[in-house]
Amino acid sequence: QSFFKSIQHASPPSPTKRHNKISVIGAGNVGMAIAQTILTQDLVDELVLVDAIPDKLRGEMLDLQHAAAFLPRTKIQASTDYSVTMGSDLCIVTAGARQINGESRLNLLQRNVALFKKIIPPLVRYSPHCVLLIVSNPVDVLTYIAWKLSGFPSNRVIGSGTNLDSSRFRFLIADHLDVNAQDVQAYIVGEHGDSSVALWSSISVGGVPVLSFLEKQQIAYEKEMLENIHKEVINGAYEVISLKGYTSWAIGYSVANLARTIMRNQRKIHPVSVLAKGFYGIDGGEVFISLPAQLGRGGVLGVTNIHMTEEEMKRLRDSAITILELQNQLGI
Ligand code: NAI
Ligand code: LAC
Repeated sequence: QSFFKSIQHASPPSPTKRHNKISVIGAGNVGMAIAQTILTQDLVDELVLVDAIPDKLRGEMLDLQHAAAFLPRTKIQASTDYSVTMGSDLCIVTAGARQINGESRLNLLQRNVALFKKIIPPLVRYSPHCVLLIVSNPVDVLTYIAWKLSGFPSNRVIGSGTNLDSSRFRFLIADHLDVNAQDVQAYIVGEHGDSSVALWSSISVGGVPVLSFLEKQQIAYEKEMLENIHKEVINGAYEVISLKGYTSWAIGYSVANLARTIMRNQRKIHPVSVLAKGFYGIDGGEVFISLPAQLGRGGVLGVTNIHMTEEEMKRLRDSAITILELQNQLGI
């Protein structure tokens, strides 16, 4: 006797119904912030967690499963064995060392490259058609490493990049102008880090270019004030790390925002780390840095040709050189 008295012979689900699956590699501060936001936003049928510490992994899985009464029904699995990721549409990589107080993201490179050489090949083997979304730092170089190790076309290897920095930027501008951050269109591009570039010339508030918005509102602004806002963006992570030891909530929302765009094929534009060679005069080698890119189910659908001043383009090219110089030391 089945639990329900069937009222009609239910037809089996359409054979073409997709089973949406995301795997999060690294069940630490960042991985779990991403995982719980993905669950809350009902983005998948199945969410998988992978980590190297079995007890922590099982604890995180059980803790999420116990929220079942408050979340959309989602199959949650966890294992140290990468076969659990089989058939993922999106693999989000957060595994790796994180900065200690005052440490630069670039300083994590050697440790996390060694880790990626162990993590990327099994992910690719079990999900040869997935999109790889890299979060571990230094995210731009590690996205390049993931691309090289995966053998995937570059459109299916994306770094979370300055999607987070741009949110910090939009928050600070919105706070300064007393408007809603979602009405502030603003991009930080380049390195997710100390050499990022603020595109002041293309920022708009409610469709009004910000610099003329300030003039219209007779809000006096100095170039120095704009630079200070960008400096606060760059310093943002260092300050949070000095206070709570790591960052997690903002990156959790940032990456879930990217996962939604990819899984729901939203064709939205995000500043993310993409193969930038050939764009904006970046020609010193194969480098991943953040540019405004259109994302969908297939990963990167295109890179926008956003207006930049000569100064902004020079800063972007300098940022690319910073990443390339680090990358070239790896000899990969
Ligand atoms: P965490 O230490 O809390 O978590 C890292 C996890 O990776 C640990 O649970 C560890 O067991 C796991 N791990 C280590 N080796 C592994 C392996 N071989 N396979 C699977 N899992 C493995 O660190 P947290 O705070 O989560 O940061 C993780 C990374 O994300 C760091 O590199 C950090 O810099 C980066 N990050 C990047 C941001 C961005 O905007 N791109 C923002 C915030 C953090
Ligand atoms: C951030 C660092 C940790 O939160 O990448 O931006």
